[in-house]
Amino acid sequence: MKDIDLLLLSGDGVGPEIMESAISLLEKIQSSFKINFNLIEGLIGGASIDAHGLPVTDETLNQASQADSILFGAVGGPKWDSLPPNEKPEKGLLELRSSLGLFANLRPAILFDSSLEASSLKPDIIKDLDMLIVRELTGGIYFGEPRGKKSSSAFNTMIYERHEVERIARVAFDSASLRNKKVCSVDKSNVLEVSEFWREVVIDVSKDYPDIELSHMLVDNAAMQLVKNPKQFDVILSSNLFGDILSDISAMLTGSIGMLPSASLDNRNKGLYEPVHGSAPDIAGQGTVNPIAMILSVGMMFRYSLDQLEISEKIKSAVSNTLNDGYATEDIADKNSKICSTKELTKIIIDHV
Ligand code: IPM
Ligand code: MG
Repeated sequence: MKDIDLLLLSGDGVGPEIMESAISLLEKIQSSFKINFNLIEGLIGGASIDAHGLPVTDETLNQASQADSILFGAVGGPKWDSLPPNEKPEKGLLELRSSLGLFANLRPAILFDSSLEASSLKPDIIKDLDMLIVRELTGGIYFGEPRGKKSSSAFNTMIYERHEVERIARVAFDSASLRNKKVCSVDKSNVLEVSEFWREVVIDVSKDYPDIELSHMLVDNAAMQLVKNPKQFDVILSSNLFGDILSDISAMLTGSIGMLPSASLDNRNKGLYEPVHGSAPDIAGQGTVNPIAMILSVGMMFRYSLDQLEISEKIKSAVSNTLNDGYATEDIADKNSKICSTKELTKIIIDHV
C-alpha cells in the first residue's frame, strides 16, 4: 500500500491535546500493520487567525485538497468570540467542508456498556444504543444566500437544491442497508417549504431502496423522541442545522460528548475526521480531555477512507476493552472508575490495539 498523506489540523483549545493522542495511535498502527503515513501539519481556526489573520488560508485549503485524508481537532474559543461570524475560527472549518465538498457527515452514537451510568438517562432507555446521524454538511442555512446583518434586521436563507438532498439521502439509505434498514428523515415540513421539498425528494430517492423502511419526523418531535426512546432510531437523516442540534443531543445519550467521533465525506469517500465535541476552552491545557472521540474518529478514517475495516474494528474494541477495565477520564468516570489523564488513557487504549 502506498504511503498515506495525512493532514493534521489540531486547531484550538483541546485540539492539540487530542491530536497528540491520534498521533501516538497512528505510530502504533504503523509499527504493527503494513501501513505508512506522511503526517503533515496545517493551521486552522484561531491558530490560523493568530498566525495569518484568517481562519483558513489558501495554503491549508491546498494541503487539504492534496492530502489523502484529514484529521481535525477542534476550533474556537473566547479569545476570538468578539469577531463576526464570517471571521471566527469556526468559519475555517465551514470553508474546509465546503471547498472539499464534504457533504456527508456521519455521526454514530454508540453506547459502551461501561458508560451506562455516565449518561443522564436511565440505563434501560439507552442500553445497547447504536444509531447513526447522517447530516447534510455543505448546504442549507449554513451556506444559503442571501445572508446578512443590518442595524435593524438580519437574515439567513435555508435553501436546498434537489441534487443536494438526493445525494445525502442516498448516503443515509446506503448506510441503513448495512445496519438495521431503517431511515428516519427529520424536517420541519409543517412550517417550512424547504422541508416540504426535502421530504418529497427523500421519498423519491427511497423508491430505489425498497428494503429500507422510511419514516419522517418533525425536528421538535425528534428532539423529544431522542431523549424519550432513542432506541427506536437506526439512521437519522437530516439537514445541516437540524443535524447539528440533534447530534449534540445524541452525543449526550452516550454519557459524554467526549465519546463521539465523526466523518465528513465527499462523493469519493475522501474524508475529514473529527470529534463531535468542540474546543472545550474550559479544560484546555489541563491534560484531562477525553481522547476517545478522537481515537474513534481515527477508527472511522480506517473504515471509510482507507478501506481497513479490520484496523477500525481493532480500535473500537481497544476502546471498549479499556472502558470495561474501568479506566476513564473524568467526564465519563463513575465512583468505581480509575481516573486517567488524556495521555494515560491514550496509552492504555493503544496497548489494547
Ligand atoms: C459541529 C460544530 C460546527 C457546526 C461548528 C464548529 C461550525 O458545531 O461540527 O457540530 O456547527 O457544524
Ligand atoms: Mg455542533
